[in-house]
Amino acid sequence: MKQFHSLRVIAKTSETRDSVRIAFDVPENLRDEFSFMPGQHLPIQIERDGKPVRRTYSICSPIGCWPLEIGVRIQPGGQFSEFAANELKVGDSLDVMPPTGRFHLDAHRQDGKTHIAFAAGSGITPIMSMVASILTSEPNSRVALFYGNREQNTTMFIEDLFALKNRFPERLQLHFVFSQEDQEFEISGGRIDGNKVAELYERFCSGMNVDEAWVCGPDSMIGDVTDALVGLGMQADAVHAERFGAPRKGGKKPAESVLSESEDAVKVTVIMDGHEKSFKMPRNGSNFVDAAAEQGIELPFSCKGGVCATCRTHVRRGDVNMAVNYGLEPWEVDKGFVLACQSTPNSDEVLLDYDKS
Ligand code: FES
Repeated sequence: MKQFHSLRVIAKTSETRDSVRIAFDVPENLRDEFSFMPGQHLPIQIERDGKPVRRTYSICSPIGCWPLEIGVRIQPGGQFSEFAANELKVGDSLDVMPPTGRFHLDAHRQDGKTHIAFAAGSGITPIMSMVASILTSEPNSRVALFYGNREQNTTMFIEDLFALKNRFPERLQLHFVFSQEDQEFEISGGRIDGNKVAELYERFCSGMNVDEAWVCGPDSMIGDVTDALVGLGMQADAVHAERFGAPRKGGKKPAESVLSESEDAVKVTVIMDGHEKSFKMPRNGSNFVDAAAEQGIELPFSCKGGVCATCRTHVRRGDVNMAVNYGLEPWEVDKGFVLACQSTPNSDEVLLDYDKS
């Protein structure tokens, strides 16, 4: 199981008035463990009021670049983001887990691909890493980025994007869409929804032979964009998406998992790092992550909202129900992978294999 490491913050800069960028020094001896694919994120843990608070933030650095940088949108009342904005200082250390996440591209391809990317708000963070990695590591690839925000002064990484455009003018198309600022051209105003995608695609992408699309933003935007791209003729498996938060109605809340004497208990066995551990949990109780924690067994997790896939595991034996899934690809579900934070047992015994990849 991936472990947290203490990483020192070596820079913290205000990205916009409501976001910060944090850079972590990764010592030489941890660089292999912290190497990442563009699009992946870092689980980070802090303590607030004596309790651990765990969040995941996408890496914005291009592949192979150190220090490791993340972008954090400050959410009013957000336990980590307000801490990051108001209390975190350069020189502090944070507990950071090595990069994880299934939303990533394979940079360093030499054959040349045409990518398009749609980002809304802080959904730009993993896309920033992808766009920069494509341009710096794939000399024959090109990318068109469509990036939606309320207004220019809440647009994260705008300077970095202009710098990339200056450096790679032939291979990067950069299009901003603002919902709360008047624009000279109508196509640059409004929200990135299905109609806007169709309009942008027809204007800027027709004839491009797009190979892959990368989409990151809130839940409704993801659905609109992916449906529109498939409607425009892209293969569904060429459209990759990541939500930057679980839909409010979707994520399964941790439930109490009290095992009474008379209860129909399920035996759960977990294989991790070559070792087996077993525990019992109620059939109709909380998810595997919470039930294991109540028995003193820590299973990997981060968002607990079905988004980050840090809790991904393989059901080797038994049957489980998964409440929501925003983190696994269809092929993973077909092969028996589940999100443990969203899954409950549906058979008398369950064997979860965390070592299977
Ligand atoms: S912990 Fe993030 S999907 Fe389960």
